[in-house]
Amino acid sequence: METRSAVAAGASIRLSRVSKIFPSPKGPVEALANVELTIAPGEFVSILGPSGCGKSTLLIAIAGLEPPTSGTISIAGRIVGAPRRETAIVFQDATLLPWKSALQNVLYPSEIGRQPRSAHEPKARALLQRVGLAGFEDRRPKQLSGGMRQRVALCRALVQDPDVLLMDEPFSALDAITRDEMAELMLDLWGEGGGRTAVFVTHSIHEAALLSDRVVVMRRRPCEVIADITVPFARPRRTTIVDDPAFVALCAKLRGLIEVSMGRRSNSAA
Ligand SMILES: Nc1ncnc2c1ncn2[C@@H]1O[C@H](COP(=O)(O)OP(=O)(O)OP(=O)(O)O)[C@@H](O)[C@H]1O
Ligand SMILES: [Mg+2]
Repeated sequence: METRSAVAAGASIRLSRVSKIFPSPKGPVEALANVELTIAPGEFVSILGPSGCGKSTLLIAIAGLEPPTSGTISIAGRIVGAPRRETAIVFQDATLLPWKSALQNVLYPSEIGRQPRSAHEPKARALLQRVGLAGFEDRRPKQLSGGMRQRVALCRALVQDPDVLLMDEPFSALDAITRDEMAELMLDLWGEGGGRTAVFVTHSIHEAALLSDRVVVMRRRPCEVIADITVPFARPRRTTIVDDPAFVALCAKLRGLIEVSMGRRSNSAA
């Protein structure tokens, strides 16, 4: 594994008055309404909010995969108009190519980028080893468990040394124990990652509080940011932090904000 200094530093992300309206047979659907968000280089920011509040739409827009209807998104000071090589994205399903081995899947970004395999293979093997998949390099996705497949997807995202890592509920299809293991692995990879910027979409208050520097809470109708909470715990963090009264209090605060985001409580009660 490379040391912190060998990895590209994170890039800043800035969303300015970002709105997204999808046409639909029942009329336009406003999936993002005037979202303002600034993320500093190297920050780990979670996006929390109810289903349909625009979290995936936001991530896909930051990735440059689907442009906003209005407003601007910039990364490292440049307007995002298309996917950039330095931005990696991990989805809920590992989205691996079934006919390729774990190693070939991790190397796929270099293959489509027409980069020589020799330039990335040692890194790909080291990453697979780092996530506990040494000996599984030649397995096809269907020969791996869900947690293993998601580890492969994480390696595929990291192999190109992204300065921005976007994750859309990457652990939500996993069982509770595997999910906790993945959160712990994520914390370690993050610590070793040299400060890349991360945006992590989750429904889990616990995961958001454990992993993030900041938690952004969104609501539906209008799909906008209602709170931006700084997580004060020092890094490196261990999962045992969940028993800390300050962690429990933060989770309670976030739970209150989720209630607000779902219209079950007023903001003053959060
Ligand atoms: N391609 C699309 N065409 C039409 N409407 C869409 C499209 N993508 C998203 N939407 C709508 O935009 C809104 C936000 O969707 P989005 O998938 O971003 O929500 P989400 O917060 O990620 O939800 P979940 O937590 O269920 O994943 C929803 O009302 C959804 O139906
Ligand atoms: Mg989503």
